[in-house]
Amino acid sequence: MSLFQDALAVRENAHAPYSKFKVGAAVRSANGKVFVGCNVENSAYPEGTCAEAGAIAAMIAAGENKIEEVCVVAESPVPIAPCGGCRQKIAEFSSPDVQVVLADLKGETKRITIGELLPHAFSNSHLPGE
Ligand code: THU
Repeated sequence: MSLFQDALAVRENAHAPYSKFKVGAAVRSANGKVFVGCNVENSAYPEGTCAEAGAIAAMIAAGENKIEEVCVVAESPVPIAPCGGCRQKIAEFSSPDVQVVLADLKGETKRITIGELLPHAFSNSHLPGE
């Protein structure tokens, strides 16, 4: 399965009764494994989590920490823009040239790097002692 198909499939499981906006995400890690996540909303709205966060959490839980490619899919008139927090989460485990595929339900609509999505990112290089 392609990264797009993995993201599309997990999107079906999204819990989005409040926004009605289902999102699926898939990340491929350095060893070629794919980890998926969907948005999980909550009646206490700020407790909801994004699809990308779920996929990254699954990758870390499996002992992987290097992202090679990301795909995010939603039903959207323009390619979905990963939220700012998710850009930061992706950047934590990616080099700036990692490709982020922004897809609608029919397939890929835009390919952009995480460096383009989050220029001048805050990173561990800004922390003292790192
Ligand atoms: N959402 C994501 O899952 N990823 C993003 O990058 C943007 C937004 C979710 C959060 C919320 O459940 C719904 O989309 C509407 O904002």
